[in-house]
Order: sequence, then structure tokens, then C-alpha cells
Amino acid sequence: MEERYYLTLHDIMSEQQMKTDRRSFLEKALGAMGVLTVGTVAYPIVKFLIPPETNSPDNSTIDVVAVEEVPVNSGIIFPIGNKPGILIRTPEGVFRAFTAICTHLGCTVQYRSDLIHIWCACHNGHYDLHGRNIAGPPPRPLQEYEVNIQNGRVYVTVNA
Ligand code: FES
Repeated sequence: MEERYYLTLHDIMSEQQMKTDRRSFLEKALGAMGVLTVGTVAYPIVKFLIPPETNSPDNSTIDVVAVEEVPVNSGIIFPIGNKPGILIRTPEGVFRAFTAICTHLGCTVQYRSDLIHIWCACHNGHYDLHGRNIAGPPPRPLQEYEVNIQNGRVYVTVNA
């Protein structure tokens, strides 16, 4: 016995509607993927061409940190634009700030609480608490910046 299936006009319309819906969905999905692809490529290019504002162009004052966040006889590295600075708090509690770029070959210096001075790990360069080069290969002192304390915060002024 042979069975026959007949499609009604309603069935045909529903099938066409489903095809249209699928096509529409695929078109939208492809469009969204295209937008994402273009965005993924374009975003880094735009970010490169329009660099972000830095917190410290030259000749500016930087709000670095709260006073209580830097213990006595310690130091922190902070950004000066896209370069590192070092803020130290001496054993006497005095704040001083310098460029953190070693004058030898440009490594980032750090504060050594055990030595009570600034030290460059790259070639064992040493600077005193005034940024003066005292041992190792660094040929010059670190550039010093002005430090001011206001309302419990440490501000560093960078002059070009
Ligand atoms: S880069 Fe600092 S001692 Fe050489």
C-alpha cells in the first residue's frame, strides 16, 4: 500500500518562511562577524594612532600615592608618562623622587631597604638617597624630582 504525502499551501508557506528566517539569521550572523573582525583589526590601529592620555606629561604634577602607603625605609615605582619613576621614603621618613631609569644602560632601579639606598640589579649599580651614583658602572646621578605632601598624598612634579 502506497502512502502519499501532500503538502498543503500552509506547509509550503511555512517551509519558505523557515528558509527565509534561516537565511536572514545567517546574513545577520555573518554581518555581526564581519563587524567584529573589522573592529578587532581596527581597534589596535586606532589605539596606536591615538595614544591614551598619560597621567603625567612633562612639566606636570603627579598624584603618586597616599603617604601611609609608603612605609619608612622603602620605595615604590610609579609611572611618569610611559617611563618609570621611583619614590623613596628614607629611614628618617623623608620622601624623594627620581627617574627610575639607571644612567648606565637604562634598567629600572629599585629601593633596597637592606642597603638603605637605590640599586640597579642589571650591573650592580648603586645610588645614595640623593640619587648620586656611588658604586658600580652608573656614570651619572639619577634625575631628581620635586616632592610635595598635601592632604596626606605625595605629589611629584616633573620638569622637562
Ligand atoms: S643598567 Fe644599571 S648598572 Fe647597568
